[in-house]
Amino acid sequence: MQQVSRRRLDPFNLLVPAEGSMFFGRQNELERLQHEDATSFAVAGPGRIGKTSLMTRYRALTLRDGRMSSQFRISFFDCDPAPANSVSRFLAMHIASSRRSAEMTDAGLLNFVKYQSNALGAPLDLLLDEVDLVCESEAFKALGAAAREGYCRLVLFGKGVLLKTILSESSLLDCRMQLLHLGPLDAGSARKLILLPLRDLGFRIAGQEEFLERVLSLTGRLPYLLQFYGQKLAQLALEEQTDTISLQHVETLHADFATAQYFVKPLNELRDAQTRLVGLSLLKEYRREYSIPAVQEIYERVAGTRLSHTRTSEICNDLVINNVLAWQGPSAFRIANEGLYRYAHDMGYLTNALEDSKKEAGSNN
Ligand SMILES: Nc1ncnc2c1ncn2[C@@H]1O[C@H](COP(=O)(O)OP(=O)(O)OP(=O)(O)O)[C@@H](O)[C@H]1O
Ligand SMILES: [Mg+2]
Repeated sequence: MQQVSRRRLDPFNLLVPAEGSMFFGRQNELERLQHEDATSFAVAGPGRIGKTSLMTRYRALTLRDGRMSSQFRISFFDCDPAPANSVSRFLAMHIASSRRSAEMTDAGLLNFVKYQSNALGAPLDLLLDEVDLVCESEAFKALGAAAREGYCRLVLFGKGVLLKTILSESSLLDCRMQLLHLGPLDAGSARKLILLPLRDLGFRIAGQEEFLERVLSLTGRLPYLLQFYGQKLAQLALEEQTDTISLQHVETLHADFATAQYFVKPLNELRDAQTRLVGLSLLKEYRREYSIPAVQEIYERVAGTRLSHTRTSEICNDLVINNVLAWQGPSAFRIANEGLYRYAHDMGYLTNALEDSKKEAGSNN
């Protein structure tokens, strides 16, 4: 009976953005979004790092402060950017559904935002999610102009294209945007994300400090991996009918095929041959931290050719967006999580994949 209800109460969830008491951390980002309310932000980070969760939390805080009326939350996931004016129309229809909005053009968008802002008596606070396919459009150029003139504040959430757009000097957005790199959770929040839900489910953790150190290192404090691990550990303890979770359960997960697959998935998803070769080479060398020159040196040793500083930096950012590396300060990187190395290594994946990847990158040169 207790087991059935515990399974049903399992608070870990990988499929929906974290909300309420299952949301942890991101204090710095939330404070900036709240207090620098005239500044536009680009929140760029890898898949599943918690972009939509952060947006949802920020919106909940705005709701609490009663400042909602000029705030709009729009996901471009379902927007087809190909037809002319489609992005402007999509945006306008979500802000104010009307005949005028249904006929919106890129050329008319700036005036539309001005009109809406005047009508509401405040700049629009536009929280725009999944912007990778649309952030280089004419519509976003108009939004950039509207932000520059103070008619809206933009908070854009996206992955690699958003990052490249903001970093490129010829950015179409052309308004002063602060870039927020969304990375792993801070250690305190990562501990809570594992510990509090397990405690709420009635589990005791044996050897807590050692256990937490191991889990934080294996997951790299990535929130979706922490949720995945929490869920797996709870399931394992339920199967064993024990109330105590320990390091032993973490070790048991090492032999779990589905867990291994989940951890190495980012490697399988790297499409570009050179990026894949860099990722696998760095993983093989497993270090605490990599600077750009260190990455250049490792690649040269493996592939026999040297990459430029710019190309290396581009590849490293791509590896972050694909959850193989994580940002560690302004120009340094680390392997996204120890689990990626452990599983790739223990499955014998690393050596085989590196050889295949060398051949593939060589034949593309
Ligand atoms: N701050 C957080 N606290 C707790 N869990 C989190 C947090 N952020 C993310 N998660 C976990 O990670 C998962 C993915 O989060 P979310 O959907 O917000 O990421 P995303 O970056 O928007 O992903 P995508 O790139 O697919 O849009 C969530 O289901 C949740 O399990
Ligand atoms: Mg999302």
